[in-house]
Amino acid sequence: MVLSHQVIIDKASVQGMMNYNNGIAEKISRLKNERNAVVLAHNYQRGEVQEIADYVGDSLELSREATKTHAKVIVFCGVYFMAESASILNPEKTVLLPVLEAGCPLADMLSAPQLAEWKGQYPGRPVVTYINSSAVVKAESDICCTSSNAVEIVNSRESDEILFGPDMNLGAYVQSKTRKRLILWRGYCATHAWVREEEVVKAKREHPRAEVIAHPECSAEVLRHADHVCSTSGMFSTAKKSPAREFIIVTEAGILHRLKKENPGKAFYLASPRLFCPNMKLTTLASVARVLETMEHKVQVDEEIRQRAARALERMLQASRGNTNGRAGEPANG
Ligand code: 13P
Repeated sequence: MVLSHQVIIDKASVQGMMNYNNGIAEKISRLKNERNAVVLAHNYQRGEVQEIADYVGDSLELSREATKTHAKVIVFCGVYFMAESASILNPEKTVLLPVLEAGCPLADMLSAPQLAEWKGQYPGRPVVTYINSSAVVKAESDICCTSSNAVEIVNSRESDEILFGPDMNLGAYVQSKTRKRLILWRGYCATHAWVREEEVVKAKREHPRAEVIAHPECSAEVLRHADHVCSTSGMFSTAKKSPAREFIIVTEAGILHRLKKENPGKAFYLASPRLFCPNMKLTTLASVARVLETMEHKVQVDEEIRQRAARALERMLQASRGNTNGRAGEPANG
């Protein structure tokens, strides 16, 4: 029986694709020099996009890198809020997003009017906002956090009660690590939240010697099976340091590219086939080359909003200066 979706790729077509990728990678490299541009890519990007990037990292690392670069142009291979954060922190630089439609449904789950109403219900409570949020929401927040510094940022607030949004799963995870009382907004990342506990249990049964590494955007039911809970970059150091030879990974599939490349002797199994973010996969080599050529898809923020959003992001960078371990529940360098 021939399946209708079956695609037969012969040797010649594979060679053709490799030549095409090489040609486009060379073009990107030439355009980067001409434009004085740097390419930043999130750990979930396609493997070939990670390969041409100057820097690949998690949200915290990429925000830091965006403030350090001397390039005039930043091509941000990720989703909208990431490019927006780079632009907020670097108003004098041109920030380009290869595909403008690459959004983050989680970030869209909390709007500025919703946040204003929420704050009205809990007057005086500081707002800690996950970086997966819009510029207007950041502008109304006291401080931002990422998955790698959320516990540290929450503990850095004086108040005993804190409004935390938009990700309720990350919030619940932080709640399990702090004495503060978190009031959670009920947003979630569909890619992580839809992983079912049974899928992780099944993967553990199939690979009994494997350690489970999960992102804190997963539900509490999934996280209780995790040996390690980390930001995306925290997963690299965890896999490298661990004596285990096999790992069950509970985050977006793009992470496997670097995990496998950096750990050739180790095996990585994705806990669910649904660990796939369609927005992260919109960026291709062709779209990177196109924005470098045309200088279109600039991401900019209204100056008044930018200044207020920058305060929340800069407070975060200041408060988590020593954080380099990417481990979601542990203090910096722990
Ligand atoms: P990291 O900061 O861990 O890279 O997470 C980004 C993200 O959007 C996870 O879904």
